[in-house]
Amino acid sequence: MRSLSGDLLLQRLGEQPDDKLHKRLYNAIRTSILDGSLPPSSRLLASRDLAHELGLSRNTVLTVYEQLLAEGYVFSRQGSGTFVAETVPDSCLSTTSQPISGNGEPRRAELSQRGTTLLQHASASPKQWGAFIPGVPDVNAFPHHIFSKLQARISRRPTSQRLTYSNQGGSPELRHALVDYLRVSRSVRCSPEQILITEGIHQAIDLVTRMLCNPGDDAWIEEPGYWGIRNILRMNDVNICPWAVDEAGMVPPEQPAALPRLIFVTPSHQYPLGSVMSLARRQRLLALARAAGGWIVEDDYDSEFRFSGQPIPALQGLEADAPVIYIGTFSKTLYPALRLGYVVLPKPLVDELKTAHAELYRGGHLIIQAALAQFIQEGHYTAHIRRMRLLYAKRRGFLTALIEQHLGKQALSEFNSNAGLHLVLNLPDDADDVAIAAAANERGVLVRALSRYYMLPNARRGLLMGFACVPEEQMAAAFNVLLECIVAPSP
Ligand SMILES: Cc1ncc(COP(=O)(O)O)c(C=O)c1O
Repeated sequence: MRSLSGDLLLQRLGEQPDDKLHKRLYNAIRTSILDGSLPPSSRLLASRDLAHELGLSRNTVLTVYEQLLAEGYVFSRQGSGTFVAETVPDSCLSTTSQPISGNGEPRRAELSQRGTTLLQHASASPKQWGAFIPGVPDVNAFPHHIFSKLQARISRRPTSQRLTYSNQGGSPELRHALVDYLRVSRSVRCSPEQILITEGIHQAIDLVTRMLCNPGDDAWIEEPGYWGIRNILRMNDVNICPWAVDEAGMVPPEQPAALPRLIFVTPSHQYPLGSVMSLARRQRLLALARAAGGWIVEDDYDSEFRFSGQPIPALQGLEADAPVIYIGTFSKTLYPALRLGYVVLPKPLVDELKTAHAELYRGGHLIIQAALAQFIQEGHYTAHIRRMRLLYAKRRGFLTALIEQHLGKQALSEFNSNAGLHLVLNLPDDADDVAIAAAANERGVLVRALSRYYMLPNARRGLLMGFACVPEEQMAAAFNVLLECIVAPSP
């Protein structure tokens, strides 16, 4: 005769006929525990008896009991048998089918207020490759064959230091290589100790904000500006103060009512409008930061790509011991999925921020960092940048010619400097740039609405168009689709 639990499990085994036997038995017992059919503390049938009742081998049952034991669904008592645990493991909540609320609707996860706000402002594009995605380099032009050789060489016999957590601010080789590179190409003054390797600018901004701002502190940002910074500031309950930008960069107030803790700027190539910050503004912001006892956070995200004139030196190097936290990234010079960036820390912040980074994020990827150091030292990095500068300059020229031909010169933003990976196409004040961008995205053309980069009302209308990752032969077709969307955004 079969027991009650034997009957139950036999029925449940039959409900999932396609899987392997041990998997079906595991699911049957687990589901019965989760829905209370096998209540807490109840004894499971002895493996021999259950095998007999279900017509399975005893080994199958033993394997399943062991699995359930390892996952905490059951426990065994020496000599007495196997029992259902009092509390089932938390992880089961995420692996069972969608929980159902009282009214039969799928239950919604309860988020923190901060989490809810973040989702309301989520801005990252779900599509990251195609014409005219802004800010993305030509990832296919990266010399993968060189980089993978360097990586393979280092991976063959890695030192234990490269396989454990990083706690010195990242690979020493990469920090040394960056000191020379930044001095020569960006006029940044620093020692290797001041450099902290991060997983990109986003992580750097998160770290800086968490370590330097209390809730309610003021942070100044550019208007329009990069949405990523706003989201991080919101998550840290910082009071965001947007200041307009003009052809000379951020316009700080004449007589600020309160001084900021942090000032976020993109002085070499304002994001997204493209202006370059004047010397007078740079000096003014430095004076303000000093008076406030605060810091300027210089986001130098794409300054390597300037197609005419001299490179614009970084704000960080303008004065000795400037109150500037300089942040750079390999996302634009190499490729975004590398997730590598760097912070040049002012001396008074070095130990504190490195310790905080190790506590919050536990650094790693040291083999890739060491390979990147060699890539830089052997000259491949500057050679790649030189090649990309020529390629992107041509693509930018091609796109501006298309815009001028179809929409006239006035469609190009007056702030656009001949630089970067994207440009801004002006639209009339009454244009719905969000609808136009949505219609274009729907048709596979990845532009972004300029008004989305503003926090305050009265945003300028326009479209951000990336040119770096679009071969010339693909531009005209994509541009024609965009023109159709500008004329008639809704289908
Ligand atoms: C102005 C600006 N800063 C920072 C970033 C992000 O850099 P990372 O990929 O290093 O986090 C971007 C990315 O588009 C950007 O446009």
